[in-house]
Amino acid sequence: MKLRTIENLDVQGKYVLLRDDFNVQIVDNKITDPFRIEQSMPTINALRSAGARIAIVAHRGRPKGERNMEYSLQPIADYMGIKLIPDCLDKDFLGDMRDGDVVLLENVRFYAGEEKNDPAFAADLARGFDVFVNDAFAVSHRAHASTVGVAEILPSYAGKLLASEIEHLSAVMENPARPLLSIVAGSKVSTKIGVLKALAKLSDTLIIGGALGTTFNYAMGGRVGNSLYEADQKETALEILDFAEKNNCRVLLPLDKGVAKEFARDAARMNKDFTEIEEDDVIIDAGLKTTERDVAEIRKAKTVIWNGTVGMAEWQPTWSYGSFAIANAIAEQTRAGNLESIIGGGDTVAALEACGVKEDITYVSTGGGAFLEFIEGRILPGVAILEDE
Ligand code: 3PG
Ligand code: MG
Repeated sequence: MKLRTIENLDVQGKYVLLRDDFNVQIVDNKITDPFRIEQSMPTINALRSAGARIAIVAHRGRPKGERNMEYSLQPIADYMGIKLIPDCLDKDFLGDMRDGDVVLLENVRFYAGEEKNDPAFAADLARGFDVFVNDAFAVSHRAHASTVGVAEILPSYAGKLLASEIEHLSAVMENPARPLLSIVAGSKVSTKIGVLKALAKLSDTLIIGGALGTTFNYAMGGRVGNSLYEADQKETALEILDFAEKNNCRVLLPLDKGVAKEFARDAARMNKDFTEIEEDDVIIDAGLKTTERDVAEIRKAKTVIWNGTVGMAEWQPTWSYGSFAIANAIAEQTRAGNLESIIGGGDTVAALEACGVKEDITYVSTGGGAFLEFIEGRILPGVAILEDE
């Protein structure tokens, strides 16, 4: 895939509409994980030094087309030390801009036209700008006005982050060092069918964990007690196992689990095999045997793709055991030069951060849904429109 990029693009004195994904978690007006913002800085800095006048368009949460200040981008503007323009369709500020200036436009999802990719809204958004740059890989699986609509109107280019995501993710999909181990966890089978099949095709070994793994255990007749799982996904789970077998992919399901009598951070932890799980047990983390096996698999692999924590990684230290063991083993092997590691998804990246090993990973994607859809082989509309013919 060859994208039009901002390299060698003359933006001196030009008005650039830059799409970034600043959909970060904010607690008490504080950004808990600025990863997406930090990863967006190289493009912002490159455009600034090239003399562009930049207005960043971004979203936060799902305000459903209404101006709901709970989803304001003000905390992000504050964090970046730039001005927030309170309405993304305002153009008055353009006249005051100088070369190298950058402002942030208020949440584009305050308008219903954004998610509908309404052509009139896209035209309003594009008005006054010379160039569109998309650096928001994480939202490029959505055909919205600020990802696709404006790209149909303005000369459009991929920013450095978006280009780097595509380059790294394509490389691992096209030519991975083997054995390739994929680890997929998280909560719902229904949202991961596509990626599970794609990874079953691509990988030598596939570990399925977390609540996702519990659904597979249930489908195989295992005991799951009072845990989170999807009873209605039994057939789908069996079909995925069958698909993997036909594609010569070895699937490894959870062997045991960290359980408690209630779903709570401070609940007492027990380790149980699937045969021992009782009706009132709740699974909250991967078990000891499962984790030991997962770590051994990571040590044998040459490439690891990981998405989804295998337990409540945010309930540290009791319930982060399985996820942190995986994160540390991947980091250790990558540091030693034995492994290429590709990791994506908000919770998974947060686990890396909590372990202090994010810097050790070969490539950490800013994408959640976009990361999964790309691996699945789906066309991301926000990226396709930036392709060089
Ligand atoms: C994300 O955080 O996954 C992206 O910003 C996309 O957000 P959305 O799932 O609300 O479209
Ligand atoms: Mg999402």
